[in-house]
Amino acid sequence: MCGISNKFKNMYKTSYFITTPIFYVNANPHIGHLYSALIADASARFQKLCNPSINVIFSTGTDEHGLKVQRAAEANKVSVENYCQNISNYYETTFRKFNISHSSFIRTTSKKHNVSVQHFWKRLQPHIKKGKYNGWYCTADETFLSEDQIEIINGMRVSKESGRPVEWTEEDNYKFDLRPFKEKLVDWLNHQERIKPKIFHDILLREINYLYEISLSRPKHRVNWGLTVPGDDTQTIYVWLDALVNYLTISGYPEIKMWPPDVHICGKDILKFHGIYWPIFLLAAGLKLPKQIFVHSHWKVNDEKMSKTKGNVVDPIEASHLYTESGLRYFLLREGTAHSDGNYSDLKIRRILNAELADTMGNLLNRCCGKAINPNMIYPDLDSIAIEKLLLDSKFKELNTRLNILSNTVGNHYEELNFYKGIDEIIATLQCCNRFFEYNKPWQLAKNDAIKLSCVLHITLETLRISALALQPIIPALTNKILNKLNVKSRNWNHVTPSWINKDQYDCPKYINKENNILFKKLVIN
Ligand code: ME8
Ligand code: MG
Repeated sequence: MCGISNKFKNMYKTSYFITTPIFYVNANPHIGHLYSALIADASARFQKLCNPSINVIFSTGTDEHGLKVQRAAEANKVSVENYCQNISNYYETTFRKFNISHSSFIRTTSKKHNVSVQHFWKRLQPHIKKGKYNGWYCTADETFLSEDQIEIINGMRVSKESGRPVEWTEEDNYKFDLRPFKEKLVDWLNHQERIKPKIFHDILLREINYLYEISLSRPKHRVNWGLTVPGDDTQTIYVWLDALVNYLTISGYPEIKMWPPDVHICGKDILKFHGIYWPIFLLAAGLKLPKQIFVHSHWKVNDEKMSKTKGNVVDPIEASHLYTESGLRYFLLREGTAHSDGNYSDLKIRRILNAELADTMGNLLNRCCGKAINPNMIYPDLDSIAIEKLLLDSKFKELNTRLNILSNTVGNHYEELNFYKGIDEIIATLQCCNRFFEYNKPWQLAKNDAIKLSCVLHITLETLRISALALQPIIPALTNKILNKLNVKSRNWNHVTPSWINKDQYDCPKYINKENNILFKKLVIN
């Protein structure tokens, strides 16, 4: 396996369990939701490319219970069952359209999930007691807040973190004390890279000072849209407990097939639930804790928070009509970073897609198919003498170095879920190849040096092949198109190596297909 360092090889896994949050069905999906799913999708695809026989669980789904959904259905004057069904379906449709390769799509209203939650509740029972509960509840965030976590703005009490209103809740319900688990939680958190990126690890450590007693249920007359507490049909289970248990349900709980997850992906607004509540519930139930939590920041639209009232919520399917599914996938993974918020802007999207997919990649492919330099659409063999000569050429040296280490550098970034950094390396390599191509003036070689022309073509096509292979986790449909055009059969991660390095396991294409000349159609910029 040339080109792959030991460090990277050791990361090869035989199984991989990755999850997205499950999405509230109070409204249709937007690009932020798609982004959560894309991170998991790119990661699952990358793991499969590294090891095609790996056993991957990649789960996603919809979170359908609770007051927020109950109220949304009421406001829309439809039965809550129909409301959930419609929006859950729309999530599935959206994810299918964007080639999300999840292995399971869970709905919390499913029977098997109910069984799993009931079982989990019973495991928690020794830590649960019934009593009077009073505190602040934020329905928009479906969370309880302590006095220090709220503030008064314009005479209204709101959550300091989300700015959304809270309401005083006083009722009989079941309570769970988080505090006795503090020490074990800190032990788990102290493991290097448990919460990534590091800024969120630090935020979480500060949150631990707020551990308190939380309510695990609501009286049914207040919240009827929920799972019933075992043995008490006057109470429904707190929606976050219900939702977090989805990760166990998909692993077959109570008969667990794969546990714990390698990584839970979640947005920064729900870090507390994944980094505090969830590990504590698992500790209380005597189960292993997740290996890692990967937290991502949020998408803004033209530098503003997306919100229904502002009317700036971007529906992924509508956006795909403007930029194509591959275009939107590419932009979100190209521009999204975990540690800070991303900005979605029409002009920026058009510029990036035109520059990188249409020009840097698409146009380079086109030039290799041009009548003057490649009339027979050949993927020429490499002449060993010609390459020896080229190796002395400084323009080729830089490209060659990049190509030799690409599988490694990009692989390491993908392994860390830093997709934008991986894409950056690939684009830099393609830009380098554009310079190499330009410098060698193949249109002149066509007249006087057929051997060198073949050599330049071979190297350029190899760069395109390798780049497309490495972009498969990011834009599977578009890379499929280019790899088909180039007649590339072997498409795993160990094929991300140039022909002149990886001679034994390389079956070099012979011809380029004539169809599909335009890889990515340029977008209009007004
Ligand atoms: O929180 N940019 O569901 P949800 C990026 N049901 N990501 C965003 C975003 C934005 N502008 N807005 C939201 C829930 N998200 C719970 C999860 S898991 C057991 C239960 C992300 O539909 C958000 O950070 O409100 C979260 O990761 C995901 O979308 C689902 O949000
Ligand atoms: Mg939310």
